[in-house]
Amino acid sequence: MKLGRLNHVGVATPSIEKSIAFYRDVMGAEVIREPFDLPAQGVKVCFVDTPNSQIELIEPLGEASPIHGFLAKNPAGGQHHLCYEVPDIHAAKAWFEGKGAKVLGEPRIGAHGTLIFFVHPKDMGGVLTEIMETPKPGAAH
Ligand code: CO
Repeated sequence: MKLGRLNHVGVATPSIEKSIAFYRDVMGAEVIREPFDLPAQGVKVCFVDTPNSQIELIEPLGEASPIHGFLAKNPAGGQHHLCYEVPDIHAAKAWFEGKGAKVLGEPRIGAHGTLIFFVHPKDMGGVLTEIMETPKPGAAH
């Protein structure tokens, strides 16, 4: 596998609305995308653009949201995951499994509309890692 570009840094927050104000007023972010629900992942998502990457703000959506536990430990929110692009999601999954890393579930559609999966932090130097197939040229995202 060849490591691709850092697509985004996932940041959990109890309030996307408050985080948007922070990134706009304190961090000087000029491009903040429209928040949207991602029910399949149990999160509400908002992308904040930086010149070379994005911050993905994630807020719990629904009782079963996987980030309730994170926010219970980190009530103010905090860095949740890193997301790297790869050209072929299925090849990447086979690669990580071949290295003995614990892939969490099957590839599924992520916030950018391409297939993603997560790899358990215990096998990734303590970092919850999202692997995302690079959007094809001309795709909406
Ligand atoms: Co993400």
